[in-house]
Amino acid sequence: MLYKKVKMIDEKLSAIGLGCWNFGGDWDNMSDEKAIEIVNLAIDLGINLFDVAPVYGWTHAEKVLGEALKRNGKRDQVFIASKGGLLWDENRQTRNDLSKASLLWEIDESLKRLQTDYIDLYQLHWPDPNVSLKETAEALKEMLEAKKIKYVGLSNFSHDDVKEMMTYIDVHAQQGLYNMLERNTDTYHGIPLEYRSEDQVLVDVEKYGQAFLPYSPLFQGLLTGKFSKSNNFSKDDIRNANPKLSGALLERYLNIVDELRVVANDIGHPLNEIAFNWLRQNPNVTSIIAGVSSIEQLKSNVNCLTWDIDDKTMSRINTIIEPVRYI
Ligand SMILES: NC(=O)c1ccc[n+]([C@@H]2O[C@H](COP(=O)([O-])OP(=O)(O)OC[C@H]3O[C@@H](n4cnc5c(N)ncnc54)[C@H](OP(=O)(O)O)[C@@H]3O)[C@@H](O)[C@H]2O)c1
Repeated sequence: MLYKKVKMIDEKLSAIGLGCWNFGGDWDNMSDEKAIEIVNLAIDLGINLFDVAPVYGWTHAEKVLGEALKRNGKRDQVFIASKGGLLWDENRQTRNDLSKASLLWEIDESLKRLQTDYIDLYQLHWPDPNVSLKETAEALKEMLEAKKIKYVGLSNFSHDDVKEMMTYIDVHAQQGLYNMLERNTDTYHGIPLEYRSEDQVLVDVEKYGQAFLPYSPLFQGLLTGKFSKSNNFSKDDIRNANPKLSGALLERYLNIVDELRVVANDIGHPLNEIAFNWLRQNPNVTSIIAGVSSIEQLKSNVNCLTWDIDDKTMSRINTIIEPVRYI
């Protein structure tokens, strides 16, 4: 494994992390035993960063990760990156809540589910326009003082909000949507994004010495080359809710993937590894948090560490993906 170090975080973080959203049941159904097997293999491969959130599987993903770490006794070897601030009602309608009282309740619930007494990186999942950042920062300060969390991260936050938060409290990491085809995109699942990953977030994390965790690094699987015009996701698959994975936009992305496939054939490396290395070779990208649905996928993604994209190929790839740089 390759590890990356940023100024704001003492621990070295594995360049390949693991996104645990797949453990929750929102991406078709993965058994808990399979999820635990994936966690164990990830640790054996040197992965130390596990990204999770209460909302993944409506608490289930955190519980499965906690159970895996309890069974293997390796909690101290890993860096848990969980989140708070995204709640839901009995109809599973989500809402943002970054109020102090709610966050202080949420952290204890996450600790119970994860079967641990601290979370390494506690990220605010999405901004909440109804609560002042000052109030949210007070909750985070209390958690830090109580040693319930070690570091603070902001996910999906605008440049201005990150800057304001930093006047109240240290921000150690940022997380945002970033992959070869969504570099400065302004929506995620139809939700407007108030940040531009490449042009703003990557610049800021370098300036502040923060970690950057790019989510959806494989564009939910599109960048592995396995999607077609008529994706038949199962009815429970969260990807049905991604408007970019259907219609004219999907066709446009698929045409680009076809061009990338030619590069992949020429250099003899699969598309998923190209997508990983394109991110990994950017010094401002810290830990790539792809989700996987199988042991084979995990092994195949980690295989990207055996080679690098050379300069000539990198510029060929960048020319191909340039037309969607701002889409
Ligand atoms: N902060 C946020 O708001 C936010 C939002 C979204 C995600 N996240 C985090 O980011 C993580 C990753 O993002 P994501 O799950 O949206 O997208 P992703 O990592 O781009 O895509 C995951 C999917 O890619 C496919 N895949 C992975 N490796 C593969 C391989 N080697 N070969 C073929 N297919 C492969 C699998 O699809 P199949 O299921 O079809 O096998 C898997 O379910 C999540 O788990 C979560 O931790 C955070």
